[in-house]
Amino acid sequence: MRGGLGKTFAVLSAVGLLAVSACGNSDDSGGGGNAGTDKTVTVFTWWADGGEKAGLDGMVSVFKDKCKDYTFENAAVAGGAGSNAKQVLSNDLAAGKPPSTFQAHAGAELRDYINNGQVDDVSNLYKEFGLDKAFPQSLIDNLTVDGKIYSIPANVHRANVVWTNPAVMKKANLDATKAPASVDAWIADMEKLKAAGVKAPLSTSKGFAQLMVLEVVLLAELGPDKFTGLWNGETDFNGADVTAALEKYKKILTFTNVDREAVDWPDALGYLNKGQSAYFVMGDWVAAQQLADKVPDTAYTYWPAPGTAETFQYLADSFTLPTNGKSPEGTKCWLEVVGSAEGQKAFNLKKGSIPARSDAVVTDYPKYQQTAMADWKSKKVVPSCAHGAACTLGQSDTILSAIGQFSGKPDIPTLQKALASAGKPS
Ligand code: GAL
Repeated sequence: MRGGLGKTFAVLSAVGLLAVSACGNSDDSGGGGNAGTDKTVTVFTWWADGGEKAGLDGMVSVFKDKCKDYTFENAAVAGGAGSNAKQVLSNDLAAGKPPSTFQAHAGAELRDYINNGQVDDVSNLYKEFGLDKAFPQSLIDNLTVDGKIYSIPANVHRANVVWTNPAVMKKANLDATKAPASVDAWIADMEKLKAAGVKAPLSTSKGFAQLMVLEVVLLAELGPDKFTGLWNGETDFNGADVTAALEKYKKILTFTNVDREAVDWPDALGYLNKGQSAYFVMGDWVAAQQLADKVPDTAYTYWPAPGTAETFQYLADSFTLPTNGKSPEGTKCWLEVVGSAEGQKAFNLKKGSIPARSDAVVTDYPKYQQTAMADWKSKKVVPSCAHGAACTLGQSDTILSAIGQFSGKPDIPTLQKALASAGKPS
């Protein structure tokens, strides 16, 4: 336990040091403090439980096979979307104690680590591992800062998804296979559910989950281009169209569970599965959690959030090579696994996401991921702020604190002012 947080810190595998590594060259000392002597690869994530851990375990199984010279050490810190992990990581980095590698979102979130000089350029590894050809150019562009790339993506997740409980929707004679056409139509359905005795038609949880609800409302109401512009300064957060969207968000919050500030996303998903809510806005790691919890896929449906069917709001989990991290050669082996077809398959089959690589075989994946793969190719792609594709860590902090305040005291001018002050990423 550190800093009051439950830090899972377990050595999951120990393997023979004499075995020949499938990756890397152990006499290249890189930038690591203990290079050449320390064979332990400490992997920092927030994937401590359930479907998220199952995904990590999948990646680890390939690492154990391909990187036999090295030992995996799990440094996961529990808490949805890194709500606890990011602070722990920031403290460790500031104290000069980086893990061997850490999870970070592809896109704006990486900028903080880059600007602080906490991650190394891994562009050379893209060439070495053939990743420059394996990933879609659009994703590579998103990862590139001043001509350099600082992480390797493991997946692509979709954020603008609503998960439903058909049995609950039936109470108001609603068809769970069809998404309402707009935010207004969705609000009307929530009214019907409330009238039918469902106290909290939409379950949600603290922090990032509420930001995800706000984001899908903004996306639906403003459209993809204006929505994307919110996070890079091209769309005015003070506009009347944003105010109108915030009114709808405020209304939607009245349909949510009153304990939303006290629970994390797996609890809110539990409310859906237990029949206490009809809807849950959450990324497609839910597919993995349902699998881990053995919830049959007949018990729920999913659709793009109302009014956002033509867009794929994306985020990507990626892994870094921290400056002066331990065991840089072992870390490179981890990164090779992260980018490989085998590693991405083992990870994504369990994680609910789809491979970042373009060469995945669609029929290898469960039904949900097959639909996500098709949509990733055909829909308009927009970034997620809550999950670092569009927003820096600094922007997220400002926005999340405004969201929390709004949850307690829903005042639109205060929220709008705070959102506008988050500005565009520096
Ligand atoms: C996101 C992350 C996902 C999933 C989710 C919930 O930030 O990208 O992989 O872990 O948080 O914890």
